[in-house]
Amino acid sequence: MTQTLSSSVIEAIGKTPLVSLSRISMGLEGRILAKLEYLNPGFSKKDRAALQMIVEAEQAGTLSPGQAVVELTSGNQGTGLSIVCAVKGYPFVAVMSKGNSMERARMMRALGAEVVLVDQAPNGIPGQVSGEDLERVEEVARRLTIERRGFRADQFRNQGNVHAHEYYTAEEMWAQAGGQIDAFVDFAGTAGTFMGCARGLKKHKPEIRCYLIEPHTAPHLAGKRVSNPSHQIQGGGYNMDLPFLERSFVHDYLQVSDEEAIETTRALARKEGIFAGFSSGANVAAALRLLQGRERGATIALTINDSGLKYLSTELF
Ligand SMILES: Cc1ncc(COP(=O)(O)O)c(C=O)c1O
Repeated sequence: MTQTLSSSVIEAIGKTPLVSLSRISMGLEGRILAKLEYLNPGFSKKDRAALQMIVEAEQAGTLSPGQAVVELTSGNQGTGLSIVCAVKGYPFVAVMSKGNSMERARMMRALGAEVVLVDQAPNGIPGQVSGEDLERVEEVARRLTIERRGFRADQFRNQGNVHAHEYYTAEEMWAQAGGQIDAFVDFAGTAGTFMGCARGLKKHKPEIRCYLIEPHTAPHLAGKRVSNPSHQIQGGGYNMDLPFLERSFVHDYLQVSDEEAIETTRALARKEGIFAGFSSGANVAAALRLLQGRERGATIALTINDSGLKYLSTELF
């Protein structure tokens, strides 16, 4: 490896390792290739979206020096923005539901962000953020953006989020895999990762099959009946339409239960030494199921979205 000096921690965003999960998939035909996004400076893939959204806003002139940045977050997008804003000198206001784990709020505050916590909807369950909870967070984020004359990063609509994964995550994956990828699976929050990687990978190989994952009880995007919008897979599965999502990129919709995600996240730590969060377990669980069925023999790529350290206050570990 060449030894280089970085001028800020922003240069440490991206260029994550791609690892073959041969231990957890032992006995199955095919491969799972995992991009270790928890090794980013904010310990999640959302550092990439944070950087790209801010850089594109600077280039477009929609963000001025010293202007406040406001964003709704389940914690990871906010942590990424806290880092990028700290380095670039923008005050950052993170608006988060009380349903998300509190490690995230503490981390953002440590990184200099102002964190505004929003009560969950009546009957909301701590640790389980629903689309309804998010609507409340959105309302507060909108109000604060106006009050502070801020720049709203807007991860659900800002194409910088998709571009981060289209230009970088997907390109890195493709190069690291030596062009050997047949399928991609992703648990969607904003669908920034799903759409970015699907677009980026399909540029190289249009026939790559991209599977979108949702919680077992909330298959909203699949157009199936939602029996319970609450679930434990933090960071996505919001049971709502997603502005980024272009249906033509979805080969199929898959569902993963809380139990499957949890069990697989634990196995990832035990068998592969990869200490990740619920949604990473959901991705790997879906990939394992595909290798046992219709994707037998295929090479399936995915992202390990964030670190298990973010869930030490939950039942995960
Ligand atoms: C832990 C975790 N997993 C999955 C996602 C979903 O990623 P995306 O918003 O790119 O769909 C997020 C988004 O914040 C996340 O924090």
